[in-house]
Amino acid sequence: MRWRLLLLIVCSFALVTLGPPPAYAQVPFVPTPLDVVRRMLTLAKVGPNDYVVDLGSGDGRIVREAAEAFGARGFGVEHDPELVARSRELARRQGIADKVTFMMQDLFQTDLSDATVVTMYLLPEINLKLRPRLLAQLRPGARIVSHDFDMGDWTPDATDKFYSKDKYGATGGDSTIYLWVVPADIAGRWTWRLEVGGQPLDYELVATQRFQKVDATVRIGGQARPLHDVRVRGDEITFTVLGEIRGSSVRQQFSGRASGEGIQGSVILSGPRMQGAADWIAQRSERTPRASGVILPMAAHEVSAHEGGRALAPASSRVR
Ligand SMILES: C[S@@+](CC[C@H](N)C(=O)[O-])C[C@H]1O[C@@H](n2cnc3c(N)ncnc32)[C@H](O)[C@@H]1O
Repeated sequence: MRWRLLLLIVCSFALVTLGPPPAYAQVPFVPTPLDVVRRMLTLAKVGPNDYVVDLGSGDGRIVREAAEAFGARGFGVEHDPELVARSRELARRQGIADKVTFMMQDLFQTDLSDATVVTMYLLPEINLKLRPRLLAQLRPGARIVSHDFDMGDWTPDATDKFYSKDKYGATGGDSTIYLWVVPADIAGRWTWRLEVGGQPLDYELVATQRFQKVDATVRIGGQARPLHDVRVRGDEITFTVLGEIRGSSVRQQFSGRASGEGIQGSVILSGPRMQGAADWIAQRSERTPRASGVILPMAAHEVSAHEGGRALAPASSRVR
């Protein structure tokens, strides 16, 4: 509440004295306390392989902490030149100037495609305005962490709420941290073939998607089968198909990584008369916007499964 009140006062003052501010000048510099910075970076599991981009980087504390304490590289974008100069100077004093860069530019013009982690302490409406850029430019698996403000109907993958004694100077207050993992776009029709015990099985999966939430149906040989636990986290997709193969009920647990128009992974088959595992490759035959979707053919793979104690014949690797 205090944060909103402060913002209201700053914006009202700016309106009266300067006229309407440019779009980028609507968020004042209110620093994230260091304990909150650490929890943001911890929630995002930041490590030496990460490239952390802070949108509206203030004095650069998130990017500097990511480099100094978590071993990451980082980039801060900030429209206030004095804050950019301060960030660079502090990074030089910390001995991390080779790992971090600070640029004076509009965060809405910033290319995000190299970021593995994006951090923000902005405002809900700015988060929402940024959302399409984040989804379009970040790779699946990239993490987004926001201090105090969510992203509307994109449900976070994790949240962390706690009291920080350093919030708003030394006043103290609650902080909420939101984490999202950018999901792969798997909307569409996917097909693949598995050969189990010499019998080819043709699969078709049709998926609709809204952020990380996926609804899907699956058919084997043209027949609808029960589908459970469809999950997408980053580029990882998992789901379970129940049904009969050669007259025996079998649970098929698929897991794989989506990349462009393909998914590669493995399937574990388990049932009273069949146990085994096989490689799984699917291809997308029809792509639909992320709000809906289709799944494509994958190649069938070597089946190292066992049926009633007998090894199953290797699957054909034909891709339909
Ligand atoms: C609430 S502060 C957060 C600072 C820092 N990220 C932190 O958490 O300590 C928001 C920062 O965003 C900057 N900012 C606001 N709009 C911006 C824009 N369009 N482009 C670049 N910087 C912006 C402000 O100058 C301010 O320093």
